[in-house]
Formats: sequence, C-alpha cells, structure tokens
Amino acid sequence: MYRSISRQALLYGFLLKPILALPRTRDSNETTFNWASIEPSSNLQYNDCYNGYKCARLEVPLDWQEASQGNGTSLKAAIAIVTLPATVREDDPNFGGTILVNPGGPGGSGTEFVLSEGAYLQSIVDEDKHYNILGFDPRGIGLSTPSADCYRNDFARASDAIQQGGLSPTDPDTFGLKMYYETAKGVSDLCAELGPESIFPYMSTASVARDMLEIVDRVDELGKKTFKCRRSENTDELPKLQYLGFSYGSFLGNTFASMFPGRVGRMVIDGIVDADDYIQTNMGKALLDAEKVLDTFYETCFDAGSECLLREDTDKSAQDIRNKVNLLLKNLDDPVSIVYEGRVRHITSHTVRDVLRQMLYQPINLYEPASQLLALALTGNFTNFMQTPTSLANSVQPAEMCVNPSASYPPSDFALNNEGGNGVFCSDAYVDPDLRNVTWANDVVKAYAAQSPTLAESWSRVILSCSGWKYDAKYAFRGPFGAPGPDKTGKNKDTPSAPLLILSNRWDHATPLSSAYVTSQQHGDSSVIIQEASGHCALLVSKSKCVKDHVSTYFATGVVPANGTVCEPDCVPSIPYKECPGFANS
Ligand SMILES: *[C@@H]1O[C@H](CO)[C@@H](O)[C@H](O)[C@H]1NC(C)=O
Ligand SMILES: *[C@@H]1O[C@H](CO)[C@@H](O)[C@H](O)[C@H]1NC(C)=O
Ligand SMILES: *[C@@H]1O[C@H](CO)[C@@H](O)[C@H](O)[C@H]1NC(C)=O
Ligand SMILES: *[C@@H]1O[C@H](CO)[C@@H](O)[C@H](O)[C@H]1NC(C)=O
Ligand SMILES: *[C@@H]1O[C@H](CO)[C@@H](O)[C@H](O)[C@H]1NC(C)=O
Repeated sequence: MYRSISRQALLYGFLLKPILALPRTRDSNETTFNWASIEPSSNLQYNDCYNGYKCARLEVPLDWQEASQGNGTSLKAAIAIVTLPATVREDDPNFGGTILVNPGGPGGSGTEFVLSEGAYLQSIVDEDKHYNILGFDPRGIGLSTPSADCYRNDFARASDAIQQGGLSPTDPDTFGLKMYYETAKGVSDLCAELGPESIFPYMSTASVARDMLEIVDRVDELGKKTFKCRRSENTDELPKLQYLGFSYGSFLGNTFASMFPGRVGRMVIDGIVDADDYIQTNMGKALLDAEKVLDTFYETCFDAGSECLLREDTDKSAQDIRNKVNLLLKNLDDPVSIVYEGRVRHITSHTVRDVLRQMLYQPINLYEPASQLLALALTGNFTNFMQTPTSLANSVQPAEMCVNPSASYPPSDFALNNEGGNGVFCSDAYVDPDLRNVTWANDVVKAYAAQSPTLAESWSRVILSCSGWKYDAKYAFRGPFGAPGPDKTGKNKDTPSAPLLILSNRWDHATPLSSAYVTSQQHGDSSVIIQEASGHCALLVSKSKCVKDHVSTYFATGVVPANGTVCEPDCVPSIPYKECPGFANS
C-alpha cells in the first residue's frame, strides 16, 4: 500500500488549500454528471447526481452592489452546488439542517470537496442531529460559470506553467526572481485583457459571502416549500448559515460573520487565516510556525530508525537529517536535468521544496512517501519526483490537453487553473499594480525567508502571482473583521445565534495558531480548540474523538467548550505509515 504524492494532491496544492486525505477516492461511485444539462435558476432546483448526491446551478447577480441598488442586473453567475443529503428525511425531528462547507484555496472546489470528503465531514457533525452537507464552487471556480479563465485553452496554460516551473525565486535580486516576477505579471496582463465585463472584478470574498447568504435563503425557501410544517412558527426570523470552513474558508467565514453577523447560526472554522494579515500584508505571518512543523518530520524520521530510508547510521540526531536535506537544496541551485519518458525534465530546489511544503499539509499520509522520495534524491535519483504535484503542474500532457482543447465546460482539468485563486486573493488584497513592483517581490521573499528559509521560495510564488494584478473588486469587504457574541436578551437581532468555534492544530505550517487567537479576539465569546498535532487544519490531518464531540455538540446546541481547550488526536504520523482507522482510506 504505497501512498504517493500524486496527482490528487495537485487539486489542493496551492495557497492554503489543504491536500486532503490522499488519495481518498470519491465516496460516490458515479464519477460524471452532465452539468450543462441543468439550466441555472434563481431558486434552488436540485437534480439527482453522482449516485446519492444532489446537484444544482444557482443563478446570482454578478454584481451584488448593483443588485442591492435595485438596478436591473444583466450579468449573472451560476454557482455549482453539490449536496450530500442527511441520513434522515428533512421532516424528521432529528434533522439538523444544511451545513455549507468550503475547502480553502482561494480557488478550492466545494463540489469536489463534498464528493470526496462529504461523508467524512458528515460523520464528524452527525450525532443526535443529522445534516445535509452542501459544497459549492465559489464564483469563477470549478464548475461555476462564468469561469475565471484567462487562457484560450489548457494547452496554452500548461505551456506557460512550464516557463514558470523551472524558475526559482529563492533569493532576492536574482535572475530567477526577476523572471518569475515578470512571468506572473504577464499572466496578470493576460487576465486584464478580459476587461470589466469578465468575472474578475466580481470575485472578491465579499461576493462569495453574499452568495452564501443567497444559498442559505434559497435552501430555506426550498425546505419550506417541500416540507411545509417543518419550520418553526417564528416567521420573522431570517434563515441562518451553518458553516464549516477550512483554511481560506476561515477567512470566508470570518468575512460572512463580519458582514452579516445576524445571519450566523453555527460557524466552525479550522486552520485559521488572520484576516487583516491576508488583506493588508499578503499573508505575511503565514509561515511563522512552518519550520516547527518541518522539525516534526525530521523527528518522526529519526525516531523511525532504519525504517526511515532517509535516516542513515551516521545520523546522530534529527538535525543531522535536516542538514542533509538542506545541503541537497543548496546543491540544486545548480539544476539537474533528467530524461523521463522520452522528454527532458528539470529538477530544481523548487521541486524538492514543494514536496516538503506539500507533505506538511498531511503528516500522517505523506511523511513516509516524502521520506522515500528524499532518500532517493540524496542518491541522485530524481525519477520519482516526476509524479509529484509540482512536476505534474509544470508538464504538458498532450494526451489530456490535445484531445479536445475546445471542451471548456465542464472544464477538463480545472486543477491546473490558477487564475480563479488569483481572482479572489489578488482582488481581496488589491493594491495599485505599480506598488507590486520588483522591489515588492524582493521584500516578499525576504520576509518569508526570515520566517521559514525552507518554504519561503515555494510560498513566495503564490504571493508573487499577484504581480501586476489589475482588477480591484467592485464589491469588497476589507474590515473591520469581527462581531459581538450572541445577544442573550434576544433583543439584538444583529448578532450570531452561537459564538464561533475555532479549530487549530498546535503547529500548522500555513496558518499558525496565533492567527486563531487573533480571530477569536475579533469574535465575542468564541472559543479556540487546539488539537495537539502538526499539519494544516485539525479535522483534515487526523481523527480526534475529542474534537469531533465538541464539533457535533456545537452544531446541535450552539455550546462551545472553554476557550483554549486542548484535544489529543487519535493518531500520530509515523514511518512506516500507520493507518488511522476511519480517517484516510488510502
Ligand atoms: C454504486 O453504488 C450503489 C449503492 O452503493 C450500487 O447500488 C450500485 O450498483 C453501484 N454502481 C456501480 C456501477 O458499481
Ligand atoms: C443604478 O441606476 C441609477 C439610476 O439609473 C444610476 O444613477 C446608478 O449609477 C446605477 N448604479 C449602478 C451601480 O449601475
Ligand atoms: C530510481 O528509483 C526508482 C524507484 O526506486 C527505480 O525504479 C529506478 O530504477 C531508479 N533509477 C536509477 C537510475 O537508479
Ligand atoms: C517600487 O515601488 C516603491 C513604492 O512606490 C518604490 O519606492 C520603489 O523605488 C519601486 N521600485 C522600483 C524598482 O521601481
Ligand atoms: C481565547 O483565548 C485566546 C488565547 O488566550 C485569546 O487571545 C482570545 O482573546 C480568547 N477569546 C476570547 C473570545 O476571549
């Protein structure tokens, strides 16, 4: 049972996107659905799909600002929705309603997330009450239309990705950094050609939050229509959001709670982004704990003895193993070419750094395969790197790309599309493109290197993709973030029904625990649960009965545990890999 850092990881490999329990297969055994067969509609109309799921395309105005001013809006978006129905009928007294989920990103697909993780998420929240799990592709992303797509076809996109692939913006003031910066700026210029009628001015997180409100209202409307006597008599109460958001999804949740506090029913956020840091300083604090998570990898390998191929007899400590890998990274400043499947391919320090970054999302699943890859690399054998997300992202795969390059909907492989994520992140954190000049690019790399010398290069790429970005959002929310706690007198309707429940691992290489505390300070009566584990997002790196019980109790009752509650995970990473029952069905 060899777990590879495989193509699946590519789907969730970018900024903040958790790599999910690899390579978890879809819970549904029906893998296709003809989305084009559904007419988008402004009320929620579900169609059976994927054997046991329900699919819909919900029409929303592209421009919520214009729509709120009562002007007839012409431009629309259709949000793709996949719902895993609850295990009870909606008129059952134990039906708990619908929970919206977001997998992170920005740019992550919620429909894909529900198809692969919906049953797992449902098993976490279900206890006395039973919930629908609803995932949606945020506007511009995945199966939602119009698609944030700057290229004429996937082949062109992949060719450009190759140009960027070999470039390492490792050090300030280098040719590699300047070329990387210029290439990213070129992609921004390409996207700018689409102009103000495109989806790009309307992709900010505020628009996505407003879309979520629309989904909540339309779900409620459908429920009332289908099950007339189910809802409470209290008709002046507006329907409320129940939400479970990961990584970037915590920023989306925070934005929703800050914009529409009275519409929050339950909100669990996991793997926390510091909202002001995201908006104002390009995620400047993201890597605060990254090297600490990396330490846990080297310690796991050292403790494994000869079971870890990366550990040699001469290694007297975890630090010795780390030093070897650091030397490999340094040596790869002189790139290596290898011949693979009849083509010339390059290995740079970026190829290796990205494997290190990727594995930290999912220690339990990825420490072992990563240690094998690195051990081979130390012997000069890089063949297996050809199957890693980075090298896949940077390779044109003619068989896939050329068969039908015009088949753009549904997109054949939207995982390669980075423009959607840029459309969200670069406009949320918009600054005048002139300020994002090469000096700025150097500063980004320097600031990250001060936090994490190992991951700075990989992470900087994500931030530098906003170089030259020209779309400011038409509808934006840039703070202040936060909301009061629930109003116990019930008089103030503009407060959440329950305080926020905030989850974090002790060590997270993309969203440090300190960001969870900052977010808790913004939201009255909220509580932080710390899972004693490493990796990105508590619920996605390990099973923990303790966390599960708090989360299911919270959804059922609105009660949060004491702020600062610590939970042990059920499983820890090890080499060789040990299965965590009920978690990763790899
Ligand atoms: C898919 O799963 C359903 C229920 O689990 C089963 O009835 C059906 O036969 C399966 N279809 C295929 C093609 O395996
Ligand atoms: C809405 O319509 C009014 C009156 O026609 C116009 O002044 C205003 O600019 C319009 N707003 C937008 C956002 O188009
Ligand atoms: C590199 O490692 C792979 C996997 O162990 C092996 O199949 C391959 O033969 C090795 N290549 C060389 C040149 O040793
Ligand atoms: C980049 O912009 C900053 C701020 O406007 C400016 O101080 C700096 O000189 C610029 N750098 C270059 C290389 O133009
Ligand atoms: C929860 O605890 C953290 C860490 O001590 C603190 O920063 C935060 O303000 C607390 N949250 C609330 C709502 O008091």
